[in-house]
Amino acid sequence: MRYHTDFLVIGSGIAGLSFALKVAQKGKVLIVTKTRADETATRYAQGGIAAVMYTPDTYEKHIRDTMIAGDELNDPEIVRITITESTARVKELLEWGVDFDRTESGRFDLGKEGGHSEYRVLHHKDQTGLEIEKTLLKRVLEHPNITIWENHFAVDLLTQHHLGIEVNKRTPDITCFGAYILDIETNEIKTVLAKVTLLATGGAGNVYSSTTNPPIATGDGIAMVHRAKGVIENMEFIQFHPTALFNPPERPSFLITEALRGFGAELRNQKGEAFMKKYDPRGSLAPRDIVARAIDNEMKIHGDEFVYLDCRHLPKNELINHFPNIYAKCLTIGIDITHTMIPVAPAAHYVCGGIKTDQWGRSSIKNLYASGECAHTGLHGANRLASNSLLESLVFSHRAALDSAKNIDSIEYKNEIPDWNAEGMMLTEEMILITQTIRELQSIMSSYVSIVRSNIRLERALRRLEIIFRETEDIYNRSILNVKICELRNLVAVAYLITKSAMARKESRGLHYTLDYPPIKRASEHHHPLTGEL
Ligand code: FAD
Ligand code: SIN
Repeated sequence: MRYHTDFLVIGSGIAGLSFALKVAQKGKVLIVTKTRADETATRYAQGGIAAVMYTPDTYEKHIRDTMIAGDELNDPEIVRITITESTARVKELLEWGVDFDRTESGRFDLGKEGGHSEYRVLHHKDQTGLEIEKTLLKRVLEHPNITIWENHFAVDLLTQHHLGIEVNKRTPDITCFGAYILDIETNEIKTVLAKVTLLATGGAGNVYSSTTNPPIATGDGIAMVHRAKGVIENMEFIQFHPTALFNPPERPSFLITEALRGFGAELRNQKGEAFMKKYDPRGSLAPRDIVARAIDNEMKIHGDEFVYLDCRHLPKNELINHFPNIYAKCLTIGIDITHTMIPVAPAAHYVCGGIKTDQWGRSSIKNLYASGECAHTGLHGANRLASNSLLESLVFSHRAALDSAKNIDSIEYKNEIPDWNAEGMMLTEEMILITQTIRELQSIMSSYVSIVRSNIRLERALRRLEIIFRETEDIYNRSILNVKICELRNLVAVAYLITKSAMARKESRGLHYTLDYPPIKRASEHHHPLTGEL
C-alpha cells in the first residue's frame, strides 16, 4: 500500500501530538505509533513540567539552573530560547485543557526538584504525564485533519538511498521522503510518502537492564537517523534516575518522583544514615548525576542492592494527597510510605543526546524534523535538569511546526520511491535468539557503560557489541520483518552510539563519569547548599 500525507509524525507522546495539533491547519497529518496511542513515556511522567510562572522565579534563574545541571555543556542560545518560551507553551497547554494543581489561592502549586533553585514545576498530582497525554490525545482524535495509525512500526526513513543513490555521512543534501511503516497486525510494509516527517519516537532506556522507560523506548528514531547517515550527538549522556522503586523483577521500574525529595523525603543507606551531604552540600536535592553516583557508591561500599527513601517524617495527609499514585503503588507491595522507608535504586531514565537539531527542530536531513527525547537540541548539556524534557518537547515541536508549515507548499512528494522488497526473506523461527540477545545487550550496557565507566569497561563493551551487531544483521537480512528484530537492531545501534561517544569523551563530565579522567571542579560544585547561589 502507498499512502501520501503532508506531515508524517512518528510517535504519539507530547512531542508528536503537540506538533500534529499545530500543523493540522496546514495539511493532512498522519501519526503512526507502534502500540496504543497513549503508551508513551509522556504518559508516565510524574514530577511535572518546569516553567517560569511567577516571581521570585525569573528566566535568568531557570537558565542558570539548567546550565549548572548540564555542567555547562549546554548550548546557551537553545537554553535561552527554551526557558523564555516556557510560559507561553504552558499557557497553550492550559488552553488545550490540561489541568495543573493549584493552591487554595488559585495560584499554581509549584513543586521543586533536584537542581532547581526555585519552586517552578507545574504538576497534576504525581501523574502529570497522564493528564497531558490524555488531553492532547483527545484533541488529536477530534481533529478532522489528523489520522492515527496504532500498531504501526516505522522501520526506516526514505531517502535518495532508496532510489539507488549513494548516501554517506558527507552527503550534503540527504533528503527525507517519508518512511517504510510495518503494519503489525497484517505484517504489510506500507510506503508512506510525506512532504515533512517528524521523528518523535522518545527515548532508549531499554538499552539497559533496569529502566523507568516503557517497553516502547528502544531508540528507534535515533537508530533510523543513524542508518540514514544523519547526525547524532552527545549519546554518552545517559541519565539514571536516582530513585526507581527496587522491586525486581518488575520491568519497567516504577519511578519514585524526585518531587518527593522536593517535598522533604530523605535518602538513607541501609544502616539508616542520611548520606547525601557527604557527597554534595545540596543533599538529596543535588542534580541527578550527583545523586545517582552517590547512591551507586553507597551501594558498592556496603554491598547493597538498594538504598532507602524516607518519607516517615512528612505530614501524612499531605503526602498521600500529593503523591496518591506512589502511595497506592507502594501499598501493592506491602509498603505504607507513611510508616516504612521505600527501597530505591538508580535506573536508566533519559537520553540527553540524540538526533542533532537546530533552533527550529530541523535535523541534518532535509525535510526531517525531530523533537522530544529522541532529539538533541543542546538544552540539556551533560545532564538534564529535572522536568525540563516535557518543556523541551513543547518548545521544539512548536518551532518545528512553524518552520515546516512555512515550507510545506514548496515540497513535492517523491513518487519514484519503490515499495519495500521482501523477496527471499523468511519468517524468523529463532525468536529465542532475539530475546536472548536483547538481554545480553542490556547486561553489557549495565555492566560496562553505566553510571561509572572506564576505558577498559568501554573497550570490553564495544568488542561484545560488535559480535552482537554482526549476529543481529545476519538475522535481520534473512528475516521477514517483525517488531522484535527491528527493535533489537535499533537497540544495538543505540548501544554502539552510546559506547563510541563515551569512548570519544576524554573527560568526566555530567552524566559521563569515567575513572580514567577525574572530574574537574565546575561552577556546579561551588553552590550554596540552600539557595543554589554561586
Ligand atoms: P514518548 O512520550 O516516549 O513517545 C514516543 C512515541 O514514539 C510513542 O508513541 C511510541 O510508540 C512511538 N514510537 C517509538 N518508536 C516508534 C516506531 N519505530 N514506530 C512508530 N512509533 C514509534 N520529564 C519531565 O519533563 N517531567 C517529568 O516529570 C518526567 N517524568 C518521567 C517519568 C518517567 C517514568 C519517565 C519514563 C520519563 C519521565 N520524564 C519526565 C521524561 C519525559 O516523560 C520524556 O522525555 C517525554 O515524555 C518524551 O516525550 P516524547 O514525545 O519525546 O516521547
Ligand atoms: C521525576 O518525577 O522525578 C521525573 C522528572 C523528570 O524526569 O524530569
